[in-house]
Amino acid sequence: MAQVTESILLSILKNAWYAAAFSDEVIDKPLSRTLVERKVALFRGEDGKVGMILDRCPHRFAPLSAGRQDGDTLECPYHGLRFNRAGECVYNPHSKTKGPLRAADIPSWPVMERYGIIWFWPGDPQQADESSLPSIDFLDKPEEYALVKGRLHVRGHYELVVDNLLDLSHAAFIHPQFSGGANTPEEILAATSQRLERRARSIVNHRIRTGLGPSSAHVRLFGMDPAIPVESDLTMTWYPPAMLDFALGSWEMGQEREQGIHIPQLHIITPETEFTSHYFFINGRNRRQGEPEVDKALLDFFDMAFARQDEPMIEMVQANMGAVSDINELGPILLPTDAAPVSARRMLADLIATERHDAESRQSNEGVELTAS
Ligand code: FES
Ligand SMILES: [Fe+2]
Repeated sequence: MAQVTESILLSILKNAWYAAAFSDEVIDKPLSRTLVERKVALFRGEDGKVGMILDRCPHRFAPLSAGRQDGDTLECPYHGLRFNRAGECVYNPHSKTKGPLRAADIPSWPVMERYGIIWFWPGDPQQADESSLPSIDFLDKPEEYALVKGRLHVRGHYELVVDNLLDLSHAAFIHPQFSGGANTPEEILAATSQRLERRARSIVNHRIRTGLGPSSAHVRLFGMDPAIPVESDLTMTWYPPAMLDFALGSWEMGQEREQGIHIPQLHIITPETEFTSHYFFINGRNRRQGEPEVDKALLDFFDMAFARQDEPMIEMVQANMGAVSDINELGPILLPTDAAPVSARRMLADLIATERHDAESRQSNEGVELTAS
């Protein structure tokens, strides 16, 4: 397979899976989306497998996503060149043979589907390893959890969204509805214990809250008694570059965790450009499955929290940072609750530096081989 690669200028970890779209966004029509600064077209072939190719025909630069699908190919809507999922121009209606036109091959990216998401690999296709995608426990148990999902667009660098999710002390201030307004931010912070765990390729921010009432969602939707104190697990596990597995569960003090009401969540952030991000989320629940009104109530709840509280804050932060994407360049002061986001940023920076170093030494070795031959 001819692989036309294109360098991506954005500073990201390249050899990793990123969410491109939900699987049900790409059914029978191509989808155009900007991902890591490339406008791409996603489409499904006749066998159901998805391809992701540059959304720009190399002839007169028409968007291929506006074209027609023909079998496993996309036909350019302007002059009819056809491209397969590997980005190869396999059909040229202007030649006698109508055969392939190698000079018109365009970039394509490795893709795979898991958890109802189409993932792409912006780095070296040879290293695209499906098993490197972290396993998400609640998504591996479809019989135990009902799911709702959504996608937001955030005008902020993707690491600002990760910071937001890894330091949930902000919830006491900007999401007062979570506690039903029953406690002050100081009481919420005092009832929450945190422990940071650094693993080889993840950061776990263990957060346990003891002795307060359940969240308003647990009360309103799942009938927990606001007067009975609960234990809550608010642990967040971050996987580089920007995938977060959030355990959100509460059970009455003295009960077992298994008796609790759990609303686990997966949050995945994909850079669109340096200063904008796609924010995908999937939320599970182990109660009231198969009830569309609960789906809707949960989506409204998350719309309030993510779209109307977190997102505007992140956008205001980015606006205050101006044309700077790395907050560390601006010397922020640190609070104890920054331990998790700071550790994640450090791990990601190290991974990016190692990847760059490996690529450079590979290039210089190739240079030596060329000179020697
Ligand atoms: S622009 Fe695509 S074939 Fe001409
Ligand atoms: Fe938040």
